[in-house]
Amino acid sequence: MKNKRILLIIGGGIAAYKCLDLIRRLREFGAGVRVVMTRAAQEFITPLSVSALTNERVFTDLFDLDDEREIGHIRLSREADAIIVAPATADLIAKIAGGHANDLATSVLLASDKALLLAPAMNPRMWLNPATQRNVCQLEADGVRFVGPEEGEMAERGEAGPGRMAETSELISALEAMPGIAGSGKALLGSLSGKHVVITSGPTHEPIDPVRYIANRSSGKQGHAIAIAAQRAGAKVTLISGPVDLPDPSGVDTWHVETATEMKDAVAGALPADIAVFCAAVADWKVAEQVGQKIKKAKGAPSPTLKLVTNPDILKTVASLKSGRPKLVVGFAAETEKVIDHARAKLASKGCDLIVANDVSAATGVMGGDRNSVHLVTHDGEISWPEMSKDAVAAKLIDELALRLGDSKLAESTKKKRGQRRARAKPKKTKKVRKT
Ligand code: C5P
Repeated sequence: MKNKRILLIIGGGIAAYKCLDLIRRLREFGAGVRVVMTRAAQEFITPLSVSALTNERVFTDLFDLDDEREIGHIRLSREADAIIVAPATADLIAKIAGGHANDLATSVLLASDKALLLAPAMNPRMWLNPATQRNVCQLEADGVRFVGPEEGEMAERGEAGPGRMAETSELISALEAMPGIAGSGKALLGSLSGKHVVITSGPTHEPIDPVRYIANRSSGKQGHAIAIAAQRAGAKVTLISGPVDLPDPSGVDTWHVETATEMKDAVAGALPADIAVFCAAVADWKVAEQVGQKIKKAKGAPSPTLKLVTNPDILKTVASLKSGRPKLVVGFAAETEKVIDHARAKLASKGCDLIVANDVSAATGVMGGDRNSVHLVTHDGEISWPEMSKDAVAAKLIDELALRLGDSKLAESTKKKRGQRRARAKPKKTKKVRKT
């Protein structure tokens, strides 16, 4: 968020007060915040308190001539890296979906080509009303992102359901994952269109008998977030997921598997791909011989001994394909110590192009948590990213991969062109030789 410029449009709802905390937190992260308030928003919080927190004037009126001369509505959008509307009321959502521009907030939005995030907050019946849902669908189809609303008690007594504005931490995580904040923004806005990305996610379960299995603590949150980010970047995405407690991301072709062997077969079936990201925490071993019936505890009998055999290494198999290898093969390394050293060793041993290394020691809370702090280890160096949400890591990684794929395309076409030039040069030379 450091040095990013956020344009916050505050709508008229009781949740407007949460924006004060949002501004404070964004500024703590090093972001600059500029605020537009609708007329209704000013009934809930004052421009004075907002401007005290942003340390800037607050913009409220489309017909303020000073504004138009000094900093018109076009500039408000042009000078922002991303725009958030919070709370996004039913009325504001309807106006944005309909392309209205009858006040400063809606005029800024209609004149903007920046990434837009809406944080809806309203009465549950207003949210569930088909008109609001239609507007939300339209805006999603237009590429607008939503965070929340959350379920819970409403400010009005006795009212509960979906309609509470997302908490500040959620708003910040969603902002961090926005194009323009997470990366260059260019890659996220469609530069993976026409590309196929295969992603593995979650744990694998290795059965011991029909009721017991060996598993690990992977939640699948990071892998699923990468699938969503790739889909948003315009890619055709095949997500191969072990057993997780997450919904299938919409617009992503999700295949469900249980064991490492099933995951390997699914990956083979999903190829060819331009990019393969192996985020799954594949079990290293499986039980050598599974029994068909539940192992019984017999009185006095010794505890059973499990013989384990090594599972196929899916990442290594794909990275070393002689033909049909994806152009970019990405692995993950979950380490508890010497994170970068181990990741570099893994980059070599697996034969992949990039390793995303993260520290999963218990103190970090990465396993199962919503935030991650990763290092990108490649053959030409390493980059460490600050701690951010898993959604933001996903968006930034996809941005990075799209740029690298673009570079390799560039390198390939340069090679091709050079080849063509050489090919064109050759006959000329032959002619000359013949002449002499
Ligand atoms: O060897 P290790 O499990 O630490 O390597 C992690 C990376 O290798 C991850 O990208 C993981 O998805 C991948 N992997 C795999 N098949 C395995 C083991 C790991 O694809 N059997």
